[in-house]
Amino acid sequence: MSNAILNKENLAASAWRYRIHSPKIARKRQAGQFIMLRPVPETERIPLTIANADAEQGWIEIIFQVVGRTTMFLSGLDVGDEISDIAGPLGHPTRIEKFGRVICIGGGIGVAPLYPILCSLKDAGNDVTTIIGARSKAHLILEKEMKEKSDKLFVATDDGSYGHHGFVSDVFNQVQDAGDRFDSAFVIGPVMMMKVVSSLTLASGINTVVSLNPIMIDGTGMCGGCRVTVHGKTKFACVDGPEFDASGIDWEELIRRLKSYQSFEEKERNEHQCALVQ
Ligand SMILES: Cc1cc2nc3c(=O)[nH]c(=O)nc-3n(C[C@H](O)[C@H](O)[C@H](O)COP(=O)(O)OP(=O)(O)OC[C@H]3O[C@@H](n4cnc5c(N)ncnc54)[C@H](O)[C@@H]3O)c2cc1C
Ligand code: FES
Repeated sequence: MSNAILNKENLAASAWRYRIHSPKIARKRQAGQFIMLRPVPETERIPLTIANADAEQGWIEIIFQVVGRTTMFLSGLDVGDEISDIAGPLGHPTRIEKFGRVICIGGGIGVAPLYPILCSLKDAGNDVTTIIGARSKAHLILEKEMKEKSDKLFVATDDGSYGHHGFVSDVFNQVQDAGDRFDSAFVIGPVMMMKVVSSLTLASGINTVVSLNPIMIDGTGMCGGCRVTVHGKTKFACVDGPEFDASGIDWEELIRRLKSYQSFEEKERNEHQCALVQ
């Protein structure tokens, strides 16, 4: 029963939400934390954020995008199947306070890790404006949930199929131009998006937190795979993060390290296309 998939829902193009029986993790987890998960014994372990949980009912939820071999295998599982192994909760919880006026900006699957943070920020009494974006309407996730929790919600799509035609960074500029001011920002999404958006929020004097997504192998601080440089110091995203002060990130190093695995990942993806069972 433990690690069994209780519910499986297709949220958007190749994005899935799974509810998983995991009472111990459900009791302990806090916003910002993640699990290391191996769907079946023949795959790698991958980090996925705990998007939601219910301690009384003993379940956690993950939301993931199918991008390569392991997420393909994961998407092939069904209700009743058991996930091979799950470790967590891992990482530091998000530092939640009553900051005042907060802006949450999420891109792509990054909207999933942003959701529990938004819920905790609201519970702490913050006024929260949220901007979410995706490649197209078909790729947009959690709009209804984010709207319910946000004081104001804006949506952007790269192709203009829904909401603002353009990037979340354009919407942030428009919100600022309209006179809105913020005390804190939380930005989660693809690395380039976090780099660009946090440069804008920081330039406006807003304390900004980003959640980094380097390659993680063990998730326990032992392998060094998730090494990042923050304010000139070496940090391991799995044990020191995954959230960091955006003003100190060495973005070029992170981009370089992520690129170094690309050819291997592409080979694995091509070899295992047949595993994409939905
Ligand atoms: C703390 C953290 C939380 C995350 N939360 C989510 C989430 O909630 N939902 C979601 O869809 N994705 C999340 N990710 C990214 C997710 O881990 C990758 O999409 C996944 O590992 C891809 O594996 P793959 O074998 O399917 O794809 P691959 O083909 O192996 O890789 C595709 C891309 O995924 C990334 N990736 C691959 N392996 C790893 C790894 N071991 N660790 C980190 N990144 C990797 C790389 O950027 C790579 O280019 C998170 C990453 C981190 C570090
Ligand atoms: S994943 Fe190994 S040190 Fe962080």
